[in-house]
Amino acid sequence: MSAHGPASDPPTSTVLSGDGAAAIHPPARESVSGPSPEGAATPPARRVWFQTFGCQMNVYDTGKMRAQLAADGYVETTDPDEADLVLFNTCSIREKAVDKMDGALGPFRKDKRRGRDVVLGIAGCVAQQEGQALLDKYPEVDMVFGPDGVPHVRRLVARAAQGHRVLDTDLLDLDTYPFVSDLDPADQGVGAFVTIQKGCDNRCTFCIVPTTRGDEASRPSDQILDEVRGLTARGVREITLIGQNVNSYGLKVAGERTFAQLLYAVADIQGVERIRYTTSHPRDMGDDVIQAYRDLPQLTSHLHLPVQSGSNHVLRRMKRFYTRERYLAVVEALRDARPDLALTTDIIVGFPGETDEDFAETMSLMEAAGFVASFSFKYSPRPGTPALKLIDRGDEVPAAVASARLTAWQTAQRTRSAAWARSYEGSVVDILVEGPSRHDDGVICGRTSSHLMVNVPGSLDLVGRTIPVRVTRGFTHSARGERVVG
Ligand code: 5AD
Ligand code: SF4
Repeated sequence: MSAHGPASDPPTSTVLSGDGAAAIHPPARESVSGPSPEGAATPPARRVWFQTFGCQMNVYDTGKMRAQLAADGYVETTDPDEADLVLFNTCSIREKAVDKMDGALGPFRKDKRRGRDVVLGIAGCVAQQEGQALLDKYPEVDMVFGPDGVPHVRRLVARAAQGHRVLDTDLLDLDTYPFVSDLDPADQGVGAFVTIQKGCDNRCTFCIVPTTRGDEASRPSDQILDEVRGLTARGVREITLIGQNVNSYGLKVAGERTFAQLLYAVADIQGVERIRYTTSHPRDMGDDVIQAYRDLPQLTSHLHLPVQSGSNHVLRRMKRFYTRERYLAVVEALRDARPDLALTTDIIVGFPGETDEDFAETMSLMEAAGFVASFSFKYSPRPGTPALKLIDRGDEVPAAVASARLTAWQTAQRTRSAAWARSYEGSVVDILVEGPSRHDDGVICGRTSSHLMVNVPGSLDLVGRTIPVRVTRGFTHSARGERVVG
């Protein structure tokens, strides 16, 4: 399921800090990332500027483009005005995300019309979905390529730099899918994403991902483990395995590890202190993965398990293939294995045909499942998705009703999230220090295994270390604490 929560979507749709999945995982580098090399004597020949929209898959893909383009001498710049190459990695999960891309592209199109010499590219899911239509719509754009173009980005950029208009929306052969192994030069922090699969074989009726990212292919586990080793050698301590539906990892390939076996193998690698993963599908959460919560202390006490709706009627229409009861049974089994598990989820409100009673079922699930945070969205009709048929039948939920439901969900979630953070007050917890606090000098931040962000006075030499802290105050999305010495 969806490794595609928004990394840079508007925060209106979520009650988690920041927004979307990137807030539950190591902080996403937003529009610009990675400084130019310090003290470089001469300016590099070519500079690239990225803007990444969407989920952690896109953040990861941008990293792989960064890595590959570095081999051709492209250095990342933080200043879009000095870039020779501008690449938008786009998201089409909801209409808002598409609109954002359109807005961000505007100034560059204007620059080009005024004669600026820059290669302008649109990558990612909007590119895959719209293809040639984007080249037609934006004469200033030089290249359009989907997620499957990422492994060939050097070739595509080279052609565009020679003055060709480039279009690549071919989906690659799954059996020989060329997962990129070059490490992202910007992955120098405490946490890193590692992709384990691409695409999705599910067909949830609201979702455009199977169209934009194609069917599922699992990355060979030996390659995954090599990447993890490479990252830990750089000092990375927390690995987040990403895929659209990680639980089905390896199942289509004879002799491949299962997802549970992959978890054990990653935990075996020296230097891996924490393992997170996203996203998993409730239907496919097997006993072997649940057992891993008993066996592997590295597996964190936080799980993002998108439920989408608490109503069986809506779940059926979404083609999620589980019921509310089955979801709760999975949660119970997980809590049996890991009593302090913090559960987060994704919710869609206003799905076609959702009645007041259906929505009440969703609301009551918040309590029943004990979600400590959630990403919540108003249903957004996506081109070519099966749910459009329900709208044709007249089942559309009026926008004002959907908005009211979203507000009701988010208000209740905020209260629950705050209560959860406050429940830590007075207790001592371990945090893995990620870096300086965004707001205060002399304050560092790190997360508990359960993913609560705690800000603590302290110095930067603690970054990358796991330290005990006493939580003094819980807020809606984070907590404050103090170091426990000795
Ligand atoms: N409308 C609204 N939300 C959507 N999501 C996926 N597709 C849509 C859509 N068409 C949400 C789901 C998913 C999350 C990443 O985005 O909740 O889990
Ligand atoms: Fe997730 Fe369903 Fe979309 Fe697949 S089709 S990415 S499981 S929401």
